[in-house]
Amino acid sequence: MTDLSPKAIAQARAELGVPVERLPRSVAIIMDGNGRWARRQGLPRVAGHQEGAKNVLRIITEAARLGIEALTLYSFSIENWNRPAAAVNALMHLYAQYLGHERPTLVANNIRLRHLGRRASLPVPVQRELDESVRISSVHTGMYLCLALNYGGRAEITDAVRRLAARAAQGEIDPAAIDEADISAALDSAGIPDPDLLIRTSGEWRLSNFLLWQLSYAEFYVSDLYWPEFGPEAFRQALIAHAGRHRRFGGLEDAPPAAESTR
Ligand code: IPE
Ligand code: IPE
Ligand code: MG
Repeated sequence: MTDLSPKAIAQARAELGVPVERLPRSVAIIMDGNGRWARRQGLPRVAGHQEGAKNVLRIITEAARLGIEALTLYSFSIENWNRPAAAVNALMHLYAQYLGHERPTLVANNIRLRHLGRRASLPVPVQRELDESVRISSVHTGMYLCLALNYGGRAEITDAVRRLAARAAQGEIDPAAIDEADISAALDSAGIPDPDLLIRTSGEWRLSNFLLWQLSYAEFYVSDLYWPEFGPEAFRQALIAHAGRHRRFGGLEDAPPAAESTR
């Protein structure tokens, strides 16, 4: 069991050497570059995904140790179905296996698993393992781990719009009264704080349809490392980089909040 007492978390955060209030509460990661990592080692792509899955365990343990409230990981996009069937099947097989292997890590770190994405079109064994991990971890009280599996940002927003429209058609809600909080609450990520920091590995600078609504003010951090080699030390460096950013949210740098400002 990882020591997740407030004292241990405070100690781990202090070791980062940055003001703790500047650390992100919520972090999202586009785990990219498994295939290139494998090619560089002269291995088949699937070996890269296996190494990537091992790294997931290292990073979720590190994030929990540092008291991150929510970690969202992009594992498989809806667009990834465009890959050759054999490549997709190998990945689906790995997800089913990995979800089982991951359970002791969820228990040891008091992590609550949530799924983001379209569950019904995942293979049945993946659905079963996902449901079981969500079920066993629902009693936990620590970090949220959101696994984006068969996920697309536009699909998620589309599904949310359909839900809200259906409620409006039933007369349950007034279309004119729908606000941003209603939309957030209709997304798969309902109740999870929006990411403060988005990390993408393997040197690519794009969103690839990830969390289009939730990332509106996230800081972007790109690492040239491939996902299997983006370990805990690299993760800590990303948190330290976030602490050095000046987030303005449309306001003025270092200005006091509007209500207190006299200028
Ligand atoms: C990321 O690795 C994992 C998934 C998209 C499933 P890739 O498979 O995209 O690896 P690269 O980008 O081809 O190196
Ligand atoms: C994004 O990676 C999706 C995941 C990491 C799961 P991709 O490798 O699919 O992204 P593109 O195709 O390079 O944009
Ligand atoms: Mg890729």
